Parts: sequence; C-alpha cells; structure tokens
Amino acid sequence: MATRGSKRVTMRQIAARARVSVGTVSHVINNSAGVREEVRKRVLDAIERLGYQPSLLARGLRRNQTTILGMIIPDISNPFFPLVVRGVEDIAYQNSYRLMLCNTDNDAQKEQVYFDELRAYRMAGLIVIPSADSRLVPMAAASGGEIPVICLDRCPEGWKGDTVTVDNAEGAYQAARYLLELGHRRIATIAGQLHVTSGVERLKGFKRALREAGVSIAPEYIQEGRFDRLSGYEKGLMLLQFSPRPTAIVAANDLVALGVLAALREMGLRCPEDVSLVGFDDQEIASFTNPALTTVAQPAYQMGARAAALLFERLRGEDVPTQQVVMKATLRVRDSAAAPGGE
Ligand code: RIB
Repeated sequence: MATRGSKRVTMRQIAARARVSVGTVSHVINNSAGVREEVRKRVLDAIERLGYQPSLLARGLRRNQTTILGMIIPDISNPFFPLVVRGVEDIAYQNSYRLMLCNTDNDAQKEQVYFDELRAYRMAGLIVIPSADSRLVPMAAASGGEIPVICLDRCPEGWKGDTVTVDNAEGAYQAARYLLELGHRRIATIAGQLHVTSGVERLKGFKRALREAGVSIAPEYIQEGRFDRLSGYEKGLMLLQFSPRPTAIVAANDLVALGVLAALREMGLRCPEDVSLVGFDDQEIASFTNPALTTVAQPAYQMGARAAALLFERLRGEDVPTQQVVMKATLRVRDSAAAPGGE
C-alpha cells in the first residue's frame, strides 16, 4: 500500500477506480492469472495514478517467507564486520533480496533473541557470525532446518552446517614465523577471547610456529584480550613492563595492535626499534598507523560474498553437500616489525 496524503491506498480503491474486482487487482499485482490486456492496463493505470505500493510484508505473510536475509554480527564497531556485511549485501541486492542486520555485542543472550525474532519475521535465510559462547548449534537444531543458516568467521563447537572462515591458525603462524625469521626470540601475543574460535585458532598457530622453532614461551607472554583497542592497550602495558620485555608482540587483530601502539607511546617505547608488532585483519587503518602496520590480511568482503552466494544456492534448492569454505590469510609486510634492536 502507499499513502495518498495521510491515507494508505488500498487494493479496494484500485479496484473501484479500474472498475474490476479486488481479486483481479491481486492477479495483476502478483501476475498470478490470465487477465485481459485491456483490463490489465486499466488496473496498472489506476495503480500509477493512486501511487499504490504493494505491501511486501503482506506478500511475505501470504508466502510465509520474505525476500529478506537476516544477518547477525558480534561487534558493529569493529571495522572488520561492516566489510563482511558489505559483501553479503551486494550479493543480496543482486538477487533482489534485502538484509536485516543485528548486532549482538558478543552477547549470546542477545544473539538468541535476534535469532528467534528473525525466524518470526520469516527471513528467507540467516548468516551468523556467532557471539562468544554462542548457542547457535542448539538454536539452529531447534529451528528444525526450516531456513538455511550459514556460519561465518567463527564456528561454534558442534556446528555441522555450512561455514565460511579464514585459515586463522595459518595466518597467526605466518605472523609468528615472520618475527622468528627477523631474529626475535622473546615473542608475546595478545590473543582474542579464548572461547571464540578465531581467538583459539590464532593462538594455536602462534604456538605452533614457536614450538617448531624450538622457542619457549613464558606463560605470561600469552595474554587473553577481547579483539578490541582497550584490551590491546591494557595487555600491552602489562607485557611491556615485564622483565625481560618481549621484543615482539603478535596481536589477535588490528584493533588490539592499535591498543599496543598506544601503550608503546605511553611508555616512551618505539615501534619497531624497541618492540615489533604484527596485527590481523589488514583493516584500512593498518596502512595509516605510524608505523604502518604489518598484519595478516583476511578477505572480509569476499567472505561475506561467498557466504551469501552459498545461502542463495541453498535457497534455490541446489543439492550441494554441506560446505566448509576456508579462505586464505596472507601476511602483509609493512613497517611495524624489524630485527630486534641491539641489546
Ligand atoms: O571478532 C574479532 C575478530 O575476528 C575480527 O577482528 C576478525 O579478525 C575476526 O576474524
């Protein structure tokens, strides 16, 4: 329906103006039955003159499904996620679908509320970047597979459905290996939440690189952060006060790395002369920090686009086996890491 002045235009008004039944108007709008060309033209003319807009919600109710995709993300303030959303939205738009975006602030309870409401709104499908301690597995099981769900970026324990992730462990492994090859032996890390799979996997890759190089890790050199600037700053200050101080830090993502840069500045230390630093994501900010951040690039936009394409394969009923898509993470060398300073 559209509004004419303050009133919504109804199908009944269209029918009266075109001198046909409401049923005929419905057939013309939904292109659902043979209507004589002369009658169709009268109805379309009445629709245009009255400025009528069909109600997509009403159509969704009739079909018990909308042309809307639901997407749930954990932290809209982290620039990584809007890039992923952009990839999803472009594919949705190409398929004449729209996106309903929900931000959970990494809160599993909020995620459950959103998941249930998006189902109630009859979303055609869901793309979920799970929150920490996500209950996606039981939630998806409870929905009985009524709509396709794609898990993106993190994959909760026990998830058996479609996933699109990046090789987090390999990315963190490359970061640590790069520092080892520069000659660093006192390498610390500020990990992401260790109940989020991307955090767990990156820590595994970090540990594997040092283990293979025969380099021991002081327990206090492994700090758990929260994938944000504040935890990078707080844990960075802590690490930089240890004696001996680490000569390099691998950050769980670029926001954590920004926090470490602030801690270095506060302590009057230089990067990379005093402490080398490597991030993860290759967010746009990584090129503009001083020094420009060496980091691990992950294809955020492409991850979103791939997840949406997979969802549309499901919506078209293509009988493809469950997909576990793992995309590459690539070390991007800039200026924030160098051989350890002379000690
Ligand atoms: O959730 C925080 C991090 O996980 C993001 O920065 C990105 O690295 C994602 O994989």
